[in-house]
Amino acid sequence: MQAKKPEGTEDLFGARMRAWQAMQATAADVFGRYGFSAIETPAMEQVDVFVHGIGQSTDVVRKEMFRVFSGQNFANVLEAGTDAKLKPGKRLALRPEGTAGFVRAAVENTFVPQGGAPVKMWYAGPMFRGERVQKGRLRQFHQVGAEVLGAPDPALDAEVIIMLMDFYEELGLDRSKMRLLINSMGDPACRPAYRDAVATFIREHADEMCEECLVRADTNPLRAFDCKNDACRAVMADAPLITDALCDECAEHYAKVKQYLDEAGIAYEEDPTLVRGLDYYTRTVFEVQVTEGMGAQSAIGGGGRYDGLMELEGGKPTPGIGFAVGFERIMLALEAQGVNLAGPEPTCVYVVSAAPECRDAVFRACLGLRRAGVTAEADYQGRSMKSQMKQADKHHARLCVIIGPDELAAGEATVRDMRTHEQRSVPLENLACDVRDLVNDDAFAQADFPA
Ligand code: HAM
Repeated sequence: MQAKKPEGTEDLFGARMRAWQAMQATAADVFGRYGFSAIETPAMEQVDVFVHGIGQSTDVVRKEMFRVFSGQNFANVLEAGTDAKLKPGKRLALRPEGTAGFVRAAVENTFVPQGGAPVKMWYAGPMFRGERVQKGRLRQFHQVGAEVLGAPDPALDAEVIIMLMDFYEELGLDRSKMRLLINSMGDPACRPAYRDAVATFIREHADEMCEECLVRADTNPLRAFDCKNDACRAVMADAPLITDALCDECAEHYAKVKQYLDEAGIAYEEDPTLVRGLDYYTRTVFEVQVTEGMGAQSAIGGGGRYDGLMELEGGKPTPGIGFAVGFERIMLALEAQGVNLAGPEPTCVYVVSAAPECRDAVFRACLGLRRAGVTAEADYQGRSMKSQMKQADKHHARLCVIIGPDELAAGEATVRDMRTHEQRSVPLENLACDVRDLVNDDAFAQADFPA
């Protein structure tokens, strides 16, 4: 049987893998400047980490989580028809996002001791959501995310947003083609009354809205702003707005965030209907959208403040804020803008054996070159010299080292510049150092080699 990859997943290799690595290197660089260090949490967590953190009534938890059962547990679940009898520690899911797991790790490892300074961490890795697959929407996708725990200061909200915009810019995205949307979702003091007002509004317009929105009125009324149904969205255009319902503290916090963004020269659009799909948000939320080349999935990143999440995950009350960026969506946006994040194909020095009796010398030359820090490649299939030269081109070789019987007898090798076809003889005993110096020579390194 010829197996195929699961729907909505991708094999990452070649240029796309280099782009994913470049995105992580850019994150390490940009986020490092803001004092963030890297963390890796498990790709699976106890289901409750997501249920408590993201919210029981969210689509992500209700419809999109991939559940994981190890061998015997799976058999037990099949037999019982439910996982209700499994201990919480055995009820696992692949992470649909990184924040809930990060906060679980922060509680478990006491990242923020009482009175401690804020902790800033970033992560990169695969996330899993059982969504309907379409352009820019996968079931295993990759996120780069950043989180800060330990301070409610609105300056932090602004700095996190500024860092996100720096990141996009450093990846090569055109700022003029991005929209930064911001909103405040209030806090436990003002949001409940606002939620009730929206729920009442939906019920008053019940005959104009879809079944799902009517359910949302009871479970998660703010999600009605994101309903895919045009008729519902048209009705919701007249719904009460959170901006008018914020308590004084939240309004002041939001005003400060905007003041800092203005000061930093970051353009944004206020969108009072921006509610995001995860329940843990409080106060500031934001999303960045790109229109060109994206199809329906225009969000290349988003995030917000989550001041209540630590408690939901069993920790002490600790404010938090962060964002995540989708690699696959960034790639769509970069491709539409003609930006190559992967960089040029890697080059090498190709060592050619001009006759079978030179094979051992080629082996030794490769060994020496690699130990000197030079990427070296050679033929392993006894190809003719002509065909080895073709292979050298395929490997984007900048130099070829040719070892033939005459050279071997004279203790030399011929080094050929693949761009100019200039050749020179180099003593075999100095080969590794001489070739390394040639490769590192600035003029040579910057020359335009055929890719
Ligand atoms: P999110 O908005 O659900 O937020 O996801 C962040 C980004 O991940 C999206 O803007 C999008 O680029 C990408 N993304 C999401 N789902 C998919 C998918 N199915 N296929 C491809 N890309 C996708 C979060 O995940 C929050 N944890 C962000 C956060 C961090 N908030 C606070 N801290």
